Amino acid sequence: MQLAEAQSNKPQIIKTHVAIIGGGPSGLLLGQLLSKKGIDNIIVERVSGEYVLGRIRAGILEQGLVSLLEEAGVSERMKCEGQVHNGFDIGYYGKKFHIDIKALTGGSTVMCYGQTEVTRDLMEARAASGLTTYYESSDVALHEVTTDTPYVTFTNNGQQMRIECDYIAGCDGFHGVSRQTIPEDKRTEHERVYPFGWLGLLSDTPPVADELIYCKTERGFALASMRSPTRSRYYIQVPLSDKVEDWSDEAFWEELKRRLPEDYAKRLVTGPSIEKSIAPLRSFVCEPMQWGNLFLVGDAAHIVPPTGAKGLNLAASDVATLYRLLTKAYQEGDKRAPERYSEIALRRVWHGERYSWWLSNMLHDFDEGQVGGMEKATFDSFMRSELDFYLNHYEGQQVIARQYVGMPYEDIA
Ligand code: APR
Ligand code: PHB
Repeated sequence: MQLAEAQSNKPQIIKTHVAIIGGGPSGLLLGQLLSKKGIDNIIVERVSGEYVLGRIRAGILEQGLVSLLEEAGVSERMKCEGQVHNGFDIGYYGKKFHIDIKALTGGSTVMCYGQTEVTRDLMEARAASGLTTYYESSDVALHEVTTDTPYVTFTNNGQQMRIECDYIAGCDGFHGVSRQTIPEDKRTEHERVYPFGWLGLLSDTPPVADELIYCKTERGFALASMRSPTRSRYYIQVPLSDKVEDWSDEAFWEELKRRLPEDYAKRLVTGPSIEKSIAPLRSFVCEPMQWGNLFLVGDAAHIVPPTGAKGLNLAASDVATLYRLLTKAYQEGDKRAPERYSEIALRRVWHGERYSWWLSNMLHDFDEGQVGGMEKATFDSFMRSELDFYLNHYEGQQVIARQYVGMPYEDIA
């Protein structure tokens, strides 16, 4: 008995090149790309695969992410089922402005394809490649990350495990353990919490329009988005004190109609919700994004408010950067290449952060007494004037469109 207990407490040791903490889109995409280059990796995920797929997130993919999915060999279903969007609308106190992103950027578009579907495709590809993922793992801890022999410990199915590796990719989201592994005095965290949330509703109803519409109104922000020709996703800005139970489907639809431009409100098709939730809005960046041989990727390092759909896209550019630097280390023997990760990744992260913050400021109604160190009325006037200028000038629309389609990924020389 004693011997059996002693044996089961002995950690099972596994070796790999890169240990990936978190099996969300960041971890899965990184794993897939690395394995294509012959770089072995293991994913450790806290919850089950079904749980990961149950999360409803945004669905606008920049060209950079689309190309990365092609490179990872997981773009087939997206190409069939995803919809290419050439533009979107901004409703400005009832008036519609069309942002023709394709014309304004000289040909760039975005792909409308849900994050859940991206995740599903990546999970299936990982399973098909026979790559290891430890789902439902607990007590995940990172060790010796500033040495050449880092390792990860966790418990899976009652068995203690230990992964010995060269590098650790912290892809475990905002609440994960990876960022906390960096000593507090070695990281700086920047944060802006917004005084409202987004109430989102998913329904099997045809979208109100072929493309997205972001609305600024006296009653607050609204967004009409979609997942497919038969599935819609809508959002309305709500006070942080609101609970999802406070909002019946009927109340949601009524409020959405009040915020959509009139012609859209008239033709909106409503139906029962299949998901309804409230998400807070936050801008967050952790600097640096690496500590020794630990690299933070995606939500583990930064959060954006959803205005502009940059969350998944920033995660993807982190993945692209890390994957290219690790490939240089393994295939070209350039062991110092990964040291450049944080510096390169952060440049693009700050672009996305600033854009999401700017759009959020312009499109929402800030109902707190003081906003950004000024009275609400003053802030409102500044933001009205800002939006007025950008919407009514071609160059202004270009600035909105250029950033919506995403900044190009930096070349890794
Ligand atoms: N150990 C292992 N896994 C963990 C741990 C932990 N201690 N803590 C969290 N995780 C897992 C979560 O269960 C989740 O599946 O890490 C995963 C992180 O996934 P996401 O939160 O989706 O983050 P990421 O993969 O970076 O995805 C990019 O950007 O803005 C968003 O919507 C966008 O979710 C998307 C994200
Ligand atoms: C979504 O479809 O969920 C979505 C789209 C665009 C955004 C945010 C969310 O800016």
